[in-house]
Amino acid sequence: MSVRRLADWSDTRLRRLADEYGTPLYVHDHDRVRENYRRLTGAFPDADVLYAVKANAGRHVLDTLREAGAGAECASAGELKRALDAGFAPEDVHYTPVNPPARDLDYAGDRLAGTDATVTVGSADTLDRLESRGFTGRVLVRVHPGVGAGHSAEVATGADAKFGVPRDRVHGVLADADDRGFDVRGLHAHTGSGLLTASDRDDHRTVVETLAELVAESPVALDRVDVGGGFGVPYRESEPPLDLDAVATATRDALAGLDVELAIEPGRYLVADAGVLLATVNTTKETDGDLLAGVDAGMTTLIRPALYDAYHAVRSLAPDAADRVPVPTSVVGPVCESADVLAEGRDIPRVERGDLLAVGNAGAYGVEMASTYNSRPRPAVVALAGDDERLVRRRETLADLTTHEA
Ligand code: LLP
Repeated sequence: MSVRRLADWSDTRLRRLADEYGTPLYVHDHDRVRENYRRLTGAFPDADVLYAVKANAGRHVLDTLREAGAGAECASAGELKRALDAGFAPEDVHYTPVNPPARDLDYAGDRLAGTDATVTVGSADTLDRLESRGFTGRVLVRVHPGVGAGHSAEVATGADAKFGVPRDRVHGVLADADDRGFDVRGLHAHTGSGLLTASDRDDHRTVVETLAELVAESPVALDRVDVGGGFGVPYRESEPPLDLDAVATATRDALAGLDVELAIEPGRYLVADAGVLLATVNTTKETDGDLLAGVDAGMTTLIRPALYDAYHAVRSLAPDAADRVPVPTSVVGPVCESADVLAEGRDIPRVERGDLLAVGNAGAYGVEMASTYNSRPRPAVVALAGDDERLVRRRETLADLTTHEA
C-alpha cells in the first residue's frame, strides 16, 4: 500500500495510547517506516539510500532505518552526532552542511577526519575549512542547479543560491579539491522538498540532467551522483501519490551512459505517513464562520501549517463520531499568536470538549520542528512496532524549560 491515510490508523489503539501517555502525543509506527523503505528501495534498487535525518532525528527512527540498511544524511553537527552515536558507520554517513558554523566543522573534523565519511560541500571555501581541521577525505560538490520545486517556495532549495556552487564554478571547485588531495567522488543537488506532481518530476529530471552534464565534462573522474531527497507524500485525501517509478526511470535515463553510483536522500517519504499527532479538545467556540476547536497542540507542537500553510488531515477519534453531523471546524492551539492554527474550515463531526483529534502525516518535520515558544514543554513520542509500543521521548516538564539557564 503506497499511501497510508489517517483513516487507516486504528482509532481504538490511538484512543488507548492517548489515555495512557496523555496528549499532545506523537505516535510513530516503525512497521510503516520499514514498508516505506522497502517500497523506495524497490523503485531504486541500485541506489545508495541515505536517510535525511532532519525529517525526524529520534534515535528510534535512526535505529529502524539503520537496521533496514539505510545510511544517513546529516545537515549539522547535531545530526552527525546523533547518526554516529546511533551506530551508522562513517562510510554510510554523508554530512551536507549549509554555511557551516565553525563549531560544527570542529566537530565534523574530530569525528570524520581519517574516516570514509563523505562531506558534501556547498561553497568553495568549505574545502579550506575542512582541510584546516584535518579532513581531506571523500567529498561531493553540491551544485546550485537554478531549478527548484516542492510543496512551497520555502523548500524549493534548488532555486535558492544559498545552496550549492553555481554551475559555471563547479568544475573549478572539483579541480581545486582534487589538487588539495581530497578524495573527490562526485556531485550533489537537492531540487526541493515535497515533489509530488508531474511538473515537480520534470523539474527534478532537469536537475539530474544538469548533474549528468557536469559529470560528463568534469576535469576530475567522478563516480557518484547524489540527487538529494524531496520525494513527496500526499497530505490531502484528494492528492494521488508520487509516481515513484516514473521518478526512478527519469533519474536513470538522465544518468544513462555515465558510470556513476546513484545516491538519494529521502526524509519525508520514509517517515511522514508513519506518524500521527494526537490532541485533546479543551475548548469549543461558535463563530460566524467555523466552530473553533481549541486543542492542546499548536504551532509549537507542529509548526508546518503556521510556517508553510501546510495542510494536514484531521480526524475525530470520538467513539460516536459517525453519529455526529460534520460542521466546518478550525482547529487552533494554545499559543498567543493568530498563526497558531493547525487546520482551517474542515468538515469534522461536531467536536465536543474532551474529544480526541488525530492529525495525519505528522511523522516528518513534526516533533523535529517542535519548539518551547510560549514556554510550552515539547510533547512525548510513542513508537509502535507490531503490537509493541515504547515511550521513546518523554513529555518535557515545566522544570525542563529552565534547565539551561545560568
Ligand atoms: N537532502 C537535502 C540536502 C535536503 O536539504 C533535504 C531537505 C533532504 C535531503 C530531505 O528532503 P525530504 O525528502 O524530506 O523532502 N521543514 C520542511 C522540509 C524542509 C526540507 C529541507 N531539506 C517541511 O516541513 O516541509
